[in-house]
Amino acid sequence: MKKRLLVTSALPYANGPIHLGHLVEYIQTDVYVRFRRALGHEVAYVCAADSHGTPIEVNASKAGMAPGAFAEKWRTEQAEDFRRFSVDFDVFYTTDSPENQKWSWRVYRALKQKGLIYAREVEQLYCEKDARFLPDRFVKGTCPKCGTPDQYGDVCEKCGTTYDPRELAAPRCVLCGTPPVVRASKHAYVNLRESNVFGVVQEWVRAEGHLEPAVRAQVQGWLDDLQDWCITRDAPYFGFPVPPEETEYAGKYLYVWVDAPIGYLASAENFFATQRGLSPEAFEKSWLAEGADAELQHFIGKDILRFHSVFWPAMLWSAGVKRADRLAVHGHLTVNGEKMSKSRGTFVTGKTYLESGLDPELLRYFYAANLGPGIYDIDLSLEEFRNRINADLANNIANLASRVATLLQRAGGPVTRAPDEEIRRTTLAMLQHSRAAYEALQYRDVVRNANQIADLCNKRVQAAKPWENPLGDAEQALLWNAAKALVGIAQLLQPVMPRFAAGLVAAFGATLPAWDGFDPFSGPVEIKGKPPQIARLDARQVARLIVTPPADEPQKVAKALSPAETASKASAKPAPPPPPPGVIGYDDFARVELKVARILAAQAVPKADKLLQLSVDVGEPAPRTIVAGIAQSYPDPAALVGRRIVVVANLEPRPLRGILSQGMLLAAGESPNLQLVSVGEGIAPGTRVK
Ligand code: 2FM
Ligand code: ZN
Repeated sequence: MKKRLLVTSALPYANGPIHLGHLVEYIQTDVYVRFRRALGHEVAYVCAADSHGTPIEVNASKAGMAPGAFAEKWRTEQAEDFRRFSVDFDVFYTTDSPENQKWSWRVYRALKQKGLIYAREVEQLYCEKDARFLPDRFVKGTCPKCGTPDQYGDVCEKCGTTYDPRELAAPRCVLCGTPPVVRASKHAYVNLRESNVFGVVQEWVRAEGHLEPAVRAQVQGWLDDLQDWCITRDAPYFGFPVPPEETEYAGKYLYVWVDAPIGYLASAENFFATQRGLSPEAFEKSWLAEGADAELQHFIGKDILRFHSVFWPAMLWSAGVKRADRLAVHGHLTVNGEKMSKSRGTFVTGKTYLESGLDPELLRYFYAANLGPGIYDIDLSLEEFRNRINADLANNIANLASRVATLLQRAGGPVTRAPDEEIRRTTLAMLQHSRAAYEALQYRDVVRNANQIADLCNKRVQAAKPWENPLGDAEQALLWNAAKALVGIAQLLQPVMPRFAAGLVAAFGATLPAWDGFDPFSGPVEIKGKPPQIARLDARQVARLIVTPPADEPQKVAKALSPAETASKASAKPAPPPPPPGVIGYDDFARVELKVARILAAQAVPKADKLLQLSVDVGEPAPRTIVAGIAQSYPDPAALVGRRIVVVANLEPRPLRGILSQGMLLAAGESPNLQLVSVGEGIAPGTRVK
């Protein structure tokens, strides 16, 4: 059945550039949308800049701009970054829109009408100099629990304690440095414990399919200890005023987290009205009403789960709108194993990536290769990025495409042959698995499947060596099958790398059909051009992603530290004692470069019955030769091809029986029962074993 889907990614604050951390989500969602469209489903992919809130208001004022103009400037820049990474929203609107004000007031009034809004007098920190209440992130002071200075008003980064900003010792306003005072103000709260609304949220959380089980458990924890929600803010603020009839809260604004998710609906309404000629009423009936057959799916990061899983269903229900059918939650991005950091240069913006000259589709591929449905963090290790691209795309898939196209070109016209059962069976099975994997957001399996097809074809082409003979019938049959398999690979990777996939099929004279019932193994193949090349990445290219701040900046940071902080930094790490005899230090271990290698070819060494000669891919430009004493344990060397093993990569090369062995492989046991130490297919050749 053809589905109708309204898919959203979280709305980025219009307060700065898009960075590689943001892009995990936008790429994850865009891939999903492209996959759904390839199935023939109708998808509206909606996003907007999140334009309201204190930080935008404050930064606009610092920049001497009106907040609306400031947000618009960032929205335009962000839209351009998304375009260049092929994140193809149907609309990238703004939350500061008339549609959103209409929807936000409607939701507010609906909550009110259900008796869920009540007033509460709250005490907050107030800066008399700036004449404003201070949100948690606009106050700093000393942690009341552990005494660490310079902590924000909500949580201590040192000991993890969360507290009320009024509990901070020696608090100060981050804008002007003066100590704030405590002042009371009356705000609107939503009572989420009321039995009707609580029941609705509880039911939504428990229903199958909305949340992954681990996510559900976390949300259930919040529901078990439910707090009411403050939905207004004092001026100065950039946002929507409370509805005019709410004289009790005159002069106050709706909290940015009220109108942000409502922005999904408002932006979708704008899209359907302006691009599809659908009236707001018709849009609501067809896409949002309770019982509408269109699905609502949100992609978000784990940091904003609470807003989307507790408050958002309550808001939607109050306004008579269906709740989300799926909340897909992902983890965060780390770079080289650590949180992104401006001072370490690992806070990589989309622009920095683009300026480094790296193809945006390589990032899309790397993220896909690491994405599954869980909320674990993804690491962009630069070394793994390089290895992954080199091993999978440059050496395996693009290399196969280039070889097959070059050889098949010699046929001088269209070639049609019968399917090779092994290649066809594998390709169709991988296409079928990948469909389920995409649906489950298990993109890493899709990437693995694509490589499995290419591995098989490369192995078959390598064994047949069609370049050694004139292009006879058998050679043409193999190449025709490999070309058809490549069309299958293009189909499978098209949501991840749309340009590469389009180039691939165009080179083989094909087009991408709809996914259902797709079997590429019929009809002619005619080479129409060169398939897209993927050049191997070298370390220097990838290192351009890391832009460290100018050399004097760390000093500035050091100068800003208090004397106590400087002293504690200086005494933080005494030199470790030397390891006891017979034990090596960590640094000694780290000098041994253990790496994953893929066996490309294996053969017996003449007149040496214990030795095999292997050609292995260690993620480098050229394969290495390794001679190993494993022949008696592996009497059929060809069976080793494709295995991923572990080698010592920085061992001095040495000749064995006249062959220079460039490394050593790891194996356990004794001959003839040796077993190679192996790793799974998900690990790219060249990856460090640590
Ligand atoms: O956390 C953020 O970056 C928010 N701007 C996300 C908003 S998502 C949605 F609710 F609008
Ligand atoms: Zn101040």
